[in-house]
Amino acid sequence: MAKPKVYVTRIIPDPGLSIVKENFDVEIHDSMDYPPSREEILEKVKDKDAILCLLTDKIDEKVMDAAPNLKVISTMSVGYDHIDIEAATKRGIYVTNTPGVLTDAVAELTIGLLLAVTRRIVEADQLIRKGEWNKPWSPLFMTGPELKGKTLGIIGLGGIGTAVARKVKGFGMKVIYYSRHRKEDLEKELGIKYVDLEALLKESDFVSLHTALTKDTYHMIGEKELKMMKNTAYLINTARGAVVDTEALIKALKEGWIAGAALDVFEQEPLPPKHPITKLENVVLAPHIGSATIEARTKMAEMSAKNLLYIFQGKMPLSLVNKEVLNIRPLEKIKML
Ligand code: GLV
Repeated sequence: MAKPKVYVTRIIPDPGLSIVKENFDVEIHDSMDYPPSREEILEKVKDKDAILCLLTDKIDEKVMDAAPNLKVISTMSVGYDHIDIEAATKRGIYVTNTPGVLTDAVAELTIGLLLAVTRRIVEADQLIRKGEWNKPWSPLFMTGPELKGKTLGIIGLGGIGTAVARKVKGFGMKVIYYSRHRKEDLEKELGIKYVDLEALLKESDFVSLHTALTKDTYHMIGEKELKMMKNTAYLINTARGAVVDTEALIKALKEGWIAGAALDVFEQEPLPPKHPITKLENVVLAPHIGSATIEARTKMAEMSAKNLLYIFQGKMPLSLVNKEVLNIRPLEKIKML
């Protein structure tokens, strides 16, 4: 039997790439650093049974319509806001993602950003490099708030939000959370408290976002919400840029509604070099590197490859986003390996 045809939109790390090459008839966009153009995607998917993509590739109805044989979209990411899930499900296309394997990497970066923005680590580094460390040790030089005893408000208590809660317990922080689903077992285990969004914004010294981007969470943090936060509070975003209304955030940071922010994700990525947020001093910026540990990226690539492989072997993938698809195109009908 002919092997299923797969379009891989980037050179991904091994063993992921080798798994795909060994088992499929593969066409790869030959770059690790740059995604294919929209035109290239539309052209390459025409005869493919599957796509292995990244979060930089928009996979919408137009792409699906261009690919009449498409059965699987495997994304090497936990987020899947770049894929039209409803359109995929309607067409019997399986969508898989890579949760779990990047949880600790993102949680670690979140804590790194929290420390960077409160202890002014980036600012301190720049001060020395600019030759501005021109006075001896002094009592209030470069001071910022301590984490111990402060309240961290987590929005979205999925895997990553939970990992952050677990890790900050070691810092002696109090954790409150707001999530679509209340998790009473975790409340007991971690000593954390469920509150509504308004209470979370009002009570937290730090607010950390860990929710997926959906039509319900788009601009969930806007002017009204930022105004509810303490003027000494910090906002950390390692989720998706569009969960926050960027213009409102810039206003909040300029006018002192909040003390600062640390952002790994943006509404527009890459962030244009002259973007107004780059001019603000009370912000730490990172270029979407939440999952950028060697371990996480290697496992994400492997998991995205195995998701594809399992489906074409007629088995359940490691993580299926649209479970309803099982009723539309049962796994035994997709088995080609
Ligand atoms: C990263 O942002 C991911 O969704 O995996």
